[in-house]
Amino acid sequence: MGGVTEAARRMVASVREGRMNRTVSIRAARVEDASRLRELGVVGWETTYAGFLRPENRRAYLNGPFWSVARLRAIIEAADCATLVAEIEGRVAGFLTLEPHPSGETELTRFYVDPSERGRGTGGELWQCALAHLRASGTQSILVNVFGDNRDGRHFYERLGFALIEETTTTVGEQTVYDVWYRMTVGEPDRL
Ligand SMILES: CC(C)(COP(=O)(O)OP(=O)(O)OC[C@H]1O[C@@H](n2cnc3c(N)ncnc32)[C@H](O)[C@@H]1OP(=O)(O)O)[C@@H](O)C(=O)NCCC(=O)NCCS
Repeated sequence: MGGVTEAARRMVASVREGRMNRTVSIRAARVEDASRLRELGVVGWETTYAGFLRPENRRAYLNGPFWSVARLRAIIEAADCATLVAEIEGRVAGFLTLEPHPSGETELTRFYVDPSERGRGTGGELWQCALAHLRASGTQSILVNVFGDNRDGRHFYERLGFALIEETTTTVGEQTVYDVWYRMTVGEPDRL
């Protein structure tokens, strides 16, 4: 279950009533969740990024190491990473991964909710638990990298209180795309 702190583990073990009167249960990921996490990543890329990433480039990235089940299993187990999942009616419906960034900060590297569950508070619940983990582990600040044309994703992070720090480009397969970085100082009040 990787590096999820004891304090956050106690918090994530509790079942929380999400918006829309649904029961959303947040817990630390287990290695056997890895293939479901890949599935959520694939469907996320196919739905959210279809407007600005060509299919062959999406495919190339999804078949690379970042989304391999082996990589996801390794992150779930790593002591310096944390992976939280949201379960709705016994099914993993969303997740996020936190990994060390070369700058010494923590990076939110993956954050996906099943398309049928989006906009109903699950992402916000996952984020609250991630914050509890980050504070308990003494993290100063967190970075997140988002495709610049992912308007909904950017709106979500801006609502949480992330500040835009860099506009750049990145390469996905053979395509160069607009890319942005955000940072949040952990401990500042969140807004969702
Ligand atoms: C971003 C994401 C993780 C948020 O999870 P969520 O469960 O939809 O989030 P919540 O319901 O807690 O919050 C919804 C807020 O996020 C925004 N949002 C982002 N994507 C959305 C979507 N596809 N549908 C509805 N709301 C979305 C909404 O604008 C909403 O803000 P509002 O209350 O001001 O309207 C999820 O929408 C998702 O998986 N998106 C696709 C992948 C992605 O972009 N990931 C982030 C980049 S790595």
